[in-house]
Amino acid sequence: MAAEPQFHSLPVVTLDGHSGSGKSTLAQRLAEKLGWSYLDSGAWYRALTWAVLEANGDTCNAQVVLDTLSSIQIESDVHGQVLVNGVLLGNELRSATIDQMVSNVADHVNVRTALNQRMRQMLHKPGVSGLVADGRDAGTVIFPDAALLVFVQVPLAVRAARRQAQNERKGIDSNLRSITTALADRDARDAARGDAAPHITARSRLLDNSKQTVEEAIGCLLTWTGQTQV
Ligand code: DC
Repeated sequence: MAAEPQFHSLPVVTLDGHSGSGKSTLAQRLAEKLGWSYLDSGAWYRALTWAVLEANGDTCNAQVVLDTLSSIQIESDVHGQVLVNGVLLGNELRSATIDQMVSNVADHVNVRTALNQRMRQMLHKPGVSGLVADGRDAGTVIFPDAALLVFVQVPLAVRAARRQAQNERKGIDSNLRSITTALADRDARDAARGDAAPHITARSRLLDNSKQTVEEAIGCLLTWTGQTQV
């Protein structure tokens, strides 16, 4: 499906990439530095999944998911945290159940179109002076006219090792092989989504986030943002 043309009055920077590439940390920090709002598109998919499950709905049924979306108010705050019907959702979006079910929701093409429209409305929210959005298709589909499209690249082995280190810091026992398999499975599922699959376009700037520190990567992103007409 071709990306719908957008005409933004506010500046938008997008960071796309695979699961575990560190794009959310970068997008959040960049938004803070710029004084803009952060939009975590993955959290919107998670919040919609949460809403479907709260209503005992079937995440595999596109109509059920669309009906749920039509029945809720969904938005995010400046920090990228999603609110459904005014209730801020946090850790509940990171549960194993949501992890398992969210891909079902993200697989429905009509749901993606409807959710993308809701996300774009964040540009019209009072007080928003700019947006840093991240996800799989934030720059390619959701905000294709963004001033700056970044693709965050990190090899699978590096993502897996980082995830394992994160787990260890949290005291979670985890095995590198199973983390690698889970990330590879998620990559494969993401890759099957046609235009919405994470990909590099002619306009994308590539950020190799495998060796840089967060501060170095942010420095690079700030330079690129400054080079665009935002
Ligand atoms: O980045 P994450 O793990 O929070 O994303 C949750 C799910 O949403 C994952 O299955 C990928 C999907 N997703 C998507 O399809 N498109 C996006 N722009 C962002 C996330």
